[in-house]
Amino acid sequence: MIVVLGGGLIGLGIAYELAKRGAEVRVLEAGEPGRAASWAAAGMLAPYTEGLAGTPFEAFCARSLALYPAYVEELREAGGVDARLKIDGIVRAAYTETEASALRAQVDAARQSGVEAAWLERREVVRAEPALGPNVLGGALFAGEGQVDNRRLGRALASACAARGVRIDAGGGHVALEADARRVRGVRSRDGFVPASVVVNATGAWAGELAGVPPEARLPVFPVKGQMLALAMSRALMRRVVWVPGAYLVPRDDGRLLVGATVEDAAFDVRVTAGGIRSLLDAALAAVPALRDLALVETWAGLRPASPDGLPYLGATSLEGYFVAAGHHRNGVLLAPATARALADALEGKVDDAARPLSPLRLGAPPSALAS
Ligand code: GLY
Repeated sequence: MIVVLGGGLIGLGIAYELAKRGAEVRVLEAGEPGRAASWAAAGMLAPYTEGLAGTPFEAFCARSLALYPAYVEELREAGGVDARLKIDGIVRAAYTETEASALRAQVDAARQSGVEAAWLERREVVRAEPALGPNVLGGALFAGEGQVDNRRLGRALASACAARGVRIDAGGGHVALEADARRVRGVRSRDGFVPASVVVNATGAWAGELAGVPPEARLPVFPVKGQMLALAMSRALMRRVVWVPGAYLVPRDDGRLLVGATVEDAAFDVRVTAGGIRSLLDAALAAVPALRDLALVETWAGLRPASPDGLPYLGATSLEGYFVAAGHHRNGVLLAPATARALADALEGKVDDAARPLSPLRLGAPPSALAS
């Protein structure tokens, strides 16, 4: 039996993939499946607008982006829910010469990786996105990027997991890992002991808090708060995802325009604050004055799970049977498909070059473990 801790996009994706490969899988979710960061996200599939070209996990990000169309289609066939993938390009708009030259460099870096990217002069960027304000200078267009409706993706995964026989136990609160000196034995939940030869920690921002993990297998994960809001568009004001200085704008098919997101060190506080919402509205309205008259229909906040070196943890730890898939920070939605495959491969003893930089063993043993 494999126990996956966490029923977000990462945990459910892994559970689905493992069940597909024939494993008996049980997901333990402390709260509600598909919620927390998976629900709070904007669903952007944006490795290049996020500036990840040239980083150690660019190849892994690019792979996950390429997997998306088949992934969403497979989940729709398996569970009947369409996560509404759109690969129609993302624009990053510049309002100053400094921003323009930084974006031109981003376009060049992406092109060097063989990615379709273009610099759009003012006239072209306004033709692409007419709502951009009178002061826009130009923008970078990354044609292969896009968005998925992450809330629908959570439902699509839960439904596909159920169709594959994955048992999802939700609302059980936090659990503790049980291990002897050599290996994992299972987890202790408030309902009792659940035996497992393999436990996968996919608990997002809470991944570093799991009780019962021996010090040498413990990984630092910290929450990075993001506040967001949604405006109701009367017509399709924005055609595709657009980044402006200080905010990104994500138009959804249901008429909402998501505006995100703050980046805050606020521990596990998920309150929506006046200052957070003001900073997003200031940025959005400065760039797109036409948003001024739209109704503000939703606000929310979530916690990105970050690691000290900015890379996710993916694979085996120093404790036999204990695997981690966490620390995806700003890229959890993007990385869900590749993470599921790579984690399932790791359980079969396979790690390829794109996933190698993400090994949880890269940090070495923490000082407390070395001292003991
Ligand atoms: N990926 C966007 C964010 O984390 O705000």
